[in-house]
Amino acid sequence: MKAIRIHEHGGPEVLSIDEIPVPQPAADEVLIKVHATSVNPVDWKIREGLRKEKFPSKLPLTLGWDVSGTIEEIGNKVSGFRKGDEVYGRPDPTKNGAYAEYIVVKSNIIGFKPSSIGHTEAAAVPLAGLTAWQGLFDHGLLKAEQKVLIHAAAGGVGTYAVQFAKWKGAHVIGTASSANIDFLKRLGADEVIDYKMEDFESILSDVDLVLDTIGGDTQLKSLNILKEGGRVITTLMPEFTAEAKAKKLHLTGFMAQSIPAQLAEIAALIDSGKVKPIIDKVLPFTSARQAQTESEQGHTRGKIVLQVI
Ligand SMILES: NC(=O)c1ccc[n+]([C@@H]2O[C@H](COP(=O)([O-])OP(=O)(O)OC[C@H]3O[C@@H](n4cnc5c(N)ncnc54)[C@H](OP(=O)(O)O)[C@@H]3O)[C@@H](O)[C@H]2O)c1
Repeated sequence: MKAIRIHEHGGPEVLSIDEIPVPQPAADEVLIKVHATSVNPVDWKIREGLRKEKFPSKLPLTLGWDVSGTIEEIGNKVSGFRKGDEVYGRPDPTKNGAYAEYIVVKSNIIGFKPSSIGHTEAAAVPLAGLTAWQGLFDHGLLKAEQKVLIHAAAGGVGTYAVQFAKWKGAHVIGTASSANIDFLKRLGADEVIDYKMEDFESILSDVDLVLDTIGGDTQLKSLNILKEGGRVITTLMPEFTAEAKAKKLHLTGFMAQSIPAQLAEIAALIDSGKVKPIIDKVLPFTSARQAQTESEQGHTRGKIVLQVI
């Protein structure tokens, strides 16, 4: 089968199209025929060799930690799935990913794909969708009527976070550049702050929750707009824990997990028309270099999908 792998860390040029054997599922795994995968910043961070403490992986490594596809083979201890089932999920980022024609994953990290959309759209959901879900609800404890600020609201995580927070009944504020303001209002944001023109710190106050996907100064300033007991939940390193503690605020980082019950809840929201994946573009998976180069520029609207078949 074809797989896009790295044999060493580095720039997009280290991505190589290799011909390798189809992997065989262990007893608790399934073999998925990959229809589509999608690009997340973690793909090029791992490619570059960043965050090795979080993502220890052996080389050569197949990249890509989103999958939507069809179950081709089942390990002998797997229950709940059959050959031919259409599934989606976020493969373990310390193991081989889904820029490949086939992938093996543990059966306890996948769910049935939303039935109302195809694999191309479904591949844009798991990693970013689960991150938004867990950031807002598991760690952020977001409730109806609360005020939430979502940084990078037009990105992969942000576009799901805006829709989930709106569905929850929160007052949703996003940050984005001017080109994304109308788009985000149509997606459900009540307010959008142009981060290039305005300083969110001087505009906002009494915010219950900030979902931080930017870090640095943005994370620090986010501590200054919270109400008492408010939370900043970051998808990056929590850098200012001492400052947060001094203000009696919560600052927590987290690593999203692939939880089948949440994949099912997200699929139900998609199938009921309340949430939709936002796709910036679809490229063949052999164009992974181009896709990662674009993702690395940091201005993707929604997701870049890599089509495998
Ligand atoms: N911990 C975890 O489990 C986890 C999971 C997923 C992601 N992450 C991390 O979270 C971060 C975001 O991921 P993602 O997939 O959402 O990234 P992404 O899709 O690449 O984000 C792109 C978006 O960021 C916006 N943006 C860039 N600079 C901004 C700024 N200063 N303020 C506001 N918006 C800005 C851009 O909007 P404009 O074009 O309008 O500028 C663009 O829409 C990444 O660092 C990723 O590695 C962590």
